Amino acid sequence: MPYKSCIIGTGSSVPERVLSNQDLEEIVDTSDEWITRRTGIRDRRISSIHRNETSTDLGTRAAVKAMEMAGVTADSLDMIVVGTVTPDNQFPSAACMVQKEINAVNAGAFDISAGCTGFLYALAMADNAIRAGHCRRVLVAGIERLSSIVDWQDRSTCVLLADGAGAVVVDAREDSNGILSTHLKSDGNLGELLYSTYSTSTIPEILKDIDTKPFTLRMEGNRLFKRAVSYMAAISRDALEKNNLTAEDIRLVVPHQANIRIIDALAHTLGIPLEKVFTNVHKYGNTSSASIPIALDEANHAGLLKTGDNVLLVSFGAGLTWGAALLKWSM
Ligand code: COA
Repeated sequence: MPYKSCIIGTGSSVPERVLSNQDLEEIVDTSDEWITRRTGIRDRRISSIHRNETSTDLGTRAAVKAMEMAGVTADSLDMIVVGTVTPDNQFPSAACMVQKEINAVNAGAFDISAGCTGFLYALAMADNAIRAGHCRRVLVAGIERLSSIVDWQDRSTCVLLADGAGAVVVDAREDSNGILSTHLKSDGNLGELLYSTYSTSTIPEILKDIDTKPFTLRMEGNRLFKRAVSYMAAISRDALEKNNLTAEDIRLVVPHQANIRIIDALAHTLGIPLEKVFTNVHKYGNTSSASIPIALDEANHAGLLKTGDNVLLVSFGAGLTWGAALLKWSM
């Protein structure tokens, strides 16, 4: 039997500080009612320079938890792949910095920049490396500190974005479960809908302890919204068709957590009942490439995933990029 890429451990880590919609009312001209109704977000986590909450710290904690759950040691990893747009440094990569912290002495390590689809791009690279026989065990993570690139005076984006990290250990196994297929797409012509620009945000008094980078994020939310739904639905259908499955065969969808209205519209378009769609966007906001691995870890801890369940992961983000992974749960 050919090797399959099987997730054998999940982990996540979010900053301690909760920033509520009410807190945001003190920062920009917004309201709890607007944010909740338009996005479903109530709280989000924002890192602080006074706690150990760098991207490397958050990613390391998520990685350690995933390895503990998997019962594996860091020296058994062949590769570390991290999806991120907010590594602590331009270089070395977040993957190399996490490698140092966990002492994964036998691993190659690199980052992938694919916006909010970063984790699925990273997972696809891990799956390909395992299928090709190049790797036996890969740590895949999504790590973000979007608070460091948010324009805290732009109410259309600062209420959405947040910080966190999630990770999975992927192992080569002779198993009928595991990753069935991955699907990746992008369209650079639409890069103008979500991009970074060199400028520095003015930081509000109550967030003086956040780390900032010399660039900020710009987004055309409304134009993104429509494409998010149609592109995620199309790539989800590609994944189902490729594996001769229908929407009824899916036990759980774990979508990118950007906006509850996007998630609801996606579920409606695919004909999947909301009970089969995992959401935690109300607690964490949009954590970009960290959102799917954090959600997957929470779904796993909540006992929502049983061995052999068909699970659909689907995302979209800056690039534009979008992607899906269909897997039979392997834990
Ligand atoms: N509080 C109050 N009002 C706000 C606001 C806020 N935080 N942000 C925007 N508004 C206002 C706008 O200024 C606009 O006012 P106007 O009609 O007077 O011009 C009005 O609300 C409607 O703005 P619009 O952008 O059309 O709202 P929307 O229903 O599209 O919701 C988003 C905005 C950003 C929540 C939504 O478009 C979205 O979620 N898009 C996808 C974003 C995303 O997922 N990005 C990440 C990709 S990974």
